[in-house]
Amino acid sequence: MTNPTSKLWSGRFSDGTNPDFAAFSRSVNVDLRLWQEDIAVNRAWAKALADIDIYSNEELRQVLAGLETIADEFEKRAFRFQEADEDIHMAVERRITEIAGDAGAKIHTGRSRNDQVMTDVLLYLKHVLPALDGNLQELQSTLISRAEEHVDTVMPGYTHLQQAQPVLLAHYLLSLFWPLKRDRERLHQVLDRADVMPLGSGALAGGAFPVDRRSIAEELGFARISENSIDAVSDRDLLLEVVNVAAMIMLHLSRYAEDLILWSSTEFGFVELSEAFSTGSSMMPQKKNPDSLELVRGKAARVLGHVTALQALLKGLPLTYARDLQEDKPPLFDALDTTSDSVRIFTGAVRDASFHPERMRQALDDLLLATDLADYLTRKGMPFRNAHELVGKIVNEAVKRKVPLTKLPLSALRSYSSLFEADVHEALTVEFSLRLRELPGGTGPDAVREQFEKAKNCIEMERRI
Ligand code: ARG
Repeated sequence: MTNPTSKLWSGRFSDGTNPDFAAFSRSVNVDLRLWQEDIAVNRAWAKALADIDIYSNEELRQVLAGLETIADEFEKRAFRFQEADEDIHMAVERRITEIAGDAGAKIHTGRSRNDQVMTDVLLYLKHVLPALDGNLQELQSTLISRAEEHVDTVMPGYTHLQQAQPVLLAHYLLSLFWPLKRDRERLHQVLDRADVMPLGSGALAGGAFPVDRRSIAEELGFARISENSIDAVSDRDLLLEVVNVAAMIMLHLSRYAEDLILWSSTEFGFVELSEAFSTGSSMMPQKKNPDSLELVRGKAARVLGHVTALQALLKGLPLTYARDLQEDKPPLFDALDTTSDSVRIFTGAVRDASFHPERMRQALDDLLLATDLADYLTRKGMPFRNAHELVGKIVNEAVKRKVPLTKLPLSALRSYSSLFEADVHEALTVEFSLRLRELPGGTGPDAVREQFEKAKNCIEMERRI
C-alpha cells in the first residue's frame, strides 16, 4: 500500500487524510462497546463464506482462531487501536488481517459496513434491552414492597399541587407500577422488532455472494431477516424507538422524583431519603439534599435531548447511508446508559427512603372532605351539581369562621339543607372517604389490596416464564 494512512479504503486515494479530519471522523471511542457483537458478526459471516467456498476449511479455521485472539485482546484490554482504525469494524478487520493474512483480507467479501453496523447495533440492543427491562422489574418489585408497608398510611392526594382528596400512600406508590409495566411492554415490542437481521444487505443493494442469510440469522440469534436492503441500511426507526422509550421512562421517573423531592422538604416532611442517597452541602453544614432524585430529574432532560438529536439526524436525510448516521450511536448509547443508571438509583432511593405517616396525617386538611360532603347530600337525593354549589358555600363559611369543615355543628349545616342529619359527621372522616372508594382502581383499602395483589401477580407470572 502506498497510502501513508493505510486506511482499508485507501486504494483510490493518493493523498493522506488530514489528521484533524481523521480524528474528527473516528468513532472508536463510541463504537468500541460493540466489539463483542462485531466479533460475533464476523464469526457468523466467516462461516457463511466457508459455506459458499470463499473460504477453505483451513482459512476458516485461521479466521475463527484469529477472532478468538482478538476477543481475548479486547477482554484483557490489550487490543491496540491504530490511527487508521476509523471505527470498530475497521479495527477488527485490520487486526484479523494482521493475524490471518489473506484469510483475514477476504472477510469483507459480500458485505459492507453499512449492513454490518446495523447488525452489530441490533445485536447489542438484543443484549442490553433485557438488562434495562430487569432494572425496571426491580423497581416494580421495590414499589410493591414499599406499598405493602403502607397499605394503611393515609396522605393528602394533590391536584394542581393543592390538597384534593385523601389517598393511601400504597395507592400513590403503586401508581408508578403501571406506567413502568407499559414501558416494559414497549421495550418488549421494540425487542421483537430488533429481531430482524440486516446482514446481507451490503452497502445498499444486497450482497453479491450467495450466502445463506437465514442460517446466518439463526447463528446470530435473529428470528427474521430484513426484506429490503435499502430499508435495512437506511432505517434507524428502532434506535429512535429505543430512545423514545428511554425518554418515556425518564419522564415517569422525573415526575415521581419531583414529588419525593418536594415531600422531603421541611415544609412537607412526608419522606426522608437515606444518607446513602443524599448529599451534603459544601457550605451549609445542616443540609441533607435529595441529589440522587434531582439528578434523575435532571438527566431526564439529557435523554429528551437525545430524542431530538436522533429525529433531527434523520429528518430529510437522503437514502441510503450517509456518514451522518454515525451520529446515531452517541445518543442511543447515552440514552440507554443514563436510563439504566437512573432507574437503579431511583430504585435505591425509594427502597431506602423513610416515609412519615404521622406527618402525612397531620397535613390532611379538613377541606379534603368537601367532596365527601357533597357526595353525602347526593346520596340523600340532591342533584350533585346543586350539592357542589351548596358545599362551596358551606366551605366558604367554614373558612370565614375559621372552623374546620368537619367541626361545623349540625345546626349550621342544617341551615343550608334539611338533608343533613346526625350521621353527617360519620361521613366526614378520612376513613369513611377512603372506604367509599372501593371501586376497582380506586384508593379504597380493599381496592388497593386487590390492586396490590394484581401487581404482585404480574411480577410473579413473569418469574415463572
Ligand atoms: N462507523 C460507521 C457508522 O457508525 C460505520 C459505517 C460506515 N459506512 C460508510 N459507508 N462509511 O455509521
